[in-house]
Amino acid sequence: MPTIKLVNVTKKYGNITAIKNLSLTIEDGEYLCILGPTGSGKTTLLKLVAGIVKPDKGEIYIDDKLVNNMPAYERNVAYLPQYYALFPHLTVLENVAFGPLSKGLSVEEARRISMQMLEMTRLAWRANSFPHELSGGMQQRLALARALASGAKILLLDEPLGALDARLRVELRYKLRKLAKENNLTTIHVTHDQEEAMIVADRIVVLRNGEIQQVGSPLEVYNDPKNIFVAHFIGGANFFEGFVADVDRYGSWIQLRNNFLLRINDPNRSVGERVIVMVREEKSKILKAKKKREEINVFPGTIVNTSFLGDFISYTISLDNGDKANSKVPLAKAIGKFKVGERVYLYIEPEDVKVYPYPPHGLYKEIEVI
Ligand SMILES: Nc1ncnc2c1ncn2[C@@H]1O[C@H](COP(=O)(O)OP(=O)(O)OP(=O)(O)O)[C@@H](O)[C@H]1O
Ligand SMILES: [Mg+2]
Repeated sequence: MPTIKLVNVTKKYGNITAIKNLSLTIEDGEYLCILGPTGSGKTTLLKLVAGIVKPDKGEIYIDDKLVNNMPAYERNVAYLPQYYALFPHLTVLENVAFGPLSKGLSVEEARRISMQMLEMTRLAWRANSFPHELSGGMQQRLALARALASGAKILLLDEPLGALDARLRVELRYKLRKLAKENNLTTIHVTHDQEEAMIVADRIVVLRNGEIQQVGSPLEVYNDPKNIFVAHFIGGANFFEGFVADVDRYGSWIQLRNNFLLRINDPNRSVGERVIVMVREEKSKILKAKKKREEINVFPGTIVNTSFLGDFISYTISLDNGDKANSKVPLAKAIGKFKVGERVYLYIEPEDVKVYPYPPHGLYKEIEVI
């Protein structure tokens, strides 16, 4: 099982730096997801590992071997490009069998493996069709089957499920992970879809402008986002601006807009410090009335919007201090409960608040790139 290691890697295209001094180790058999907005360098990172582009600086190792100058075909990687090209004159089965055959497998064995991959991607029944006879989603599944059949121990997948409908996406992401794990493959899977990354990844890398913002398990990245960008990019987040009004042994008081006071459990702040606080949408609770238990962190406001999200209802509350907040409530708890125009309270538990230093160029600059 191969490890992949990037050490201080930089890749420039003219004056655009697509990857900036990036270091990352992907462990044997690991399933790593790369998440990041468009243009953040995800495809470039895969191309560097695949050997399609070369780093301007830094080293890339596969199994402790420096591969900077090793051509792509010697790296034993299966690369599924974001904009894949199928062989138009070969049938579906021949497209998939191309890799195994060129590796010297017998026709029988190549056929067996290829049919297995076509079954997994639900294309076996189209084995004798030509690529142009397939729908867009089918072509993507074919490209995926072809990458999987190549027998390489490293899988580099660039948005492998992007063109598929929601149901198939969900089905295939489980199968992809299962297949990778069963065959001890080391996988880098690029996706825009944070839910997909949360479900399939052992670890997630969040990229922004060619730089890693955070690497961690899905839970770590979700529960403890290292900065505002990550908090915004993964999961629903409410941000409020404020400054630290007081600090004691157990926590701090943050003064939000118009004197709303928010208690947080972090005592390691400095009075006067300008901050952004973040609360997940599902941790932002709505109350009809103040209760005794919830004496602090209860902020009056009016519900201005509701949207149905399937399992959840999302409420937008316009707080009396001028801030806005979203609250995601499980459907069973929410049904028929709150209406647009209703006066309510937003309740935030101190332990659910994350605090970040106020960014040099403001909150908007941190989240606008997405
Ligand atoms: N061949 C190229 N020539 C010039 N600039 C390039 C080239 N390929 C990529 N770039 C630039 O490098 C940056 C990173 O591009 P990359 O394709 O890696 O992003 P990405 O994260 O994969 O984006 P997307 O989500 O849109 O696929 C972008 O600014 C892009 O314009
Ligand atoms: Mg890309």
